[in-house]
Amino acid sequence: MPKELPSGGKFTDSGAAMGVEIIGTGHFVPGKPIKNDDLSRVMDTSDEWIRTRTGIRERRFCDSTETSASLGIDASQKALAAAGITADEIDVIICATVTPDHMCPQNACAIHAALGCRPIPAFDLVAACTGFIYSLSVAEHFIRGGSAKNVLVVGADVLSRTIDMTDRNTCILFGDGAGAAVLSARQAPAVGIRSIKIFADGGPGHLITVPGMVTQQPANSCATQHDYIRLNGREVFRFAVRRMIELTQEAILECRELGVELDLLIPHQVNQRIIDAALETTGFPASKVMVNLDKYGNTSAASVPIALDEAIREGRAKTGDTILLVAFGGGLTWGSCIITL
Ligand code: UT7
Repeated sequence: MPKELPSGGKFTDSGAAMGVEIIGTGHFVPGKPIKNDDLSRVMDTSDEWIRTRTGIRERRFCDSTETSASLGIDASQKALAAAGITADEIDVIICATVTPDHMCPQNACAIHAALGCRPIPAFDLVAACTGFIYSLSVAEHFIRGGSAKNVLVVGADVLSRTIDMTDRNTCILFGDGAGAAVLSARQAPAVGIRSIKIFADGGPGHLITVPGMVTQQPANSCATQHDYIRLNGREVFRFAVRRMIELTQEAILECRELGVELDLLIPHQVNQRIIDAALETTGFPASKVMVNLDKYGNTSAASVPIALDEAIREGRAKTGDTILLVAFGGGLTWGSCIITL
């Protein structure tokens, strides 16, 4: 029986009958790091302010030939190689993005074409920084429903094309990148996705806005000031800390019910102070937290899958480990996923 959680979400150990396992991950970030000092040369900020207020040291921005779809294609190819499967074996492609190349064709279809898949469902999903966890949830439903064996889930964003370089409150936070994972059905309980929870509250949606644009165009070529990403940093900070605490506390309870220990927490990478505040309240040890925001800043839907892939490739997340993914962002949306690798 599902259990009620403090947030109103339900806890179900969905691993009972069949596992939905991550069998391969990959990521791609554009080449040249943009250091804090590169920003302080063109606006009123400093390396010291950015480092101490956020923990970010550098981020990657696409060049004019790169797009969220092209980053997503690179990340997907790496995920397929790690999974050891061919494009023919993929049954569904979901691309989480708030910065698609176009409204149509969708990024997922560009990825489909580049990989050379047979005709299968391929679609984009918009849930901002929580997009990858939303997409995992949709993928899990496809697999548990029996209509897919392997689902490619991609998070790809190029926030650099949405930032107003005169808005120092916002532009210092973001970077570009893509991460991908292949989910697969497996007849093995207690492996793979143990629990997923996703939420939205549209009421305070105005706290993070990207009014409307697509991104296959030169950097900083937003049509008007109104198109740029805008962020109420202080309010979103409070929301992020509150949700990260709640999701982490619930996951600790769920893991207790499952009889497993959390080996690694992979939070949305945006601000070290958000992570520190959540750890202080939950008592979760900092040594078990994956952080790479110093290198990439906030890459939106790509943030969690990039960190997941790095954790796996660096050996911080190993087969048999139980990890917690936590994200929060525009919408407002938030969510978490407990996975045993
Ligand atoms: O992915 C979606 C999720 N997004 C987030 O979770 C973002 C959450 N918010 C944050 O991470 C933080 O709120 C920010 C990093 C955006 C801002 O940090 P803060 O500590 O909340 O700064 P603040 O907005 O309270 O501003 C403090 C001061 C202000 O000056 P005054 O008014 O005290 O004189 C700002 O004008 O810092 C100033 N400031 C800056 N100074 C130098 C704001 N941005 C900058 C800057 N460089 N880049």
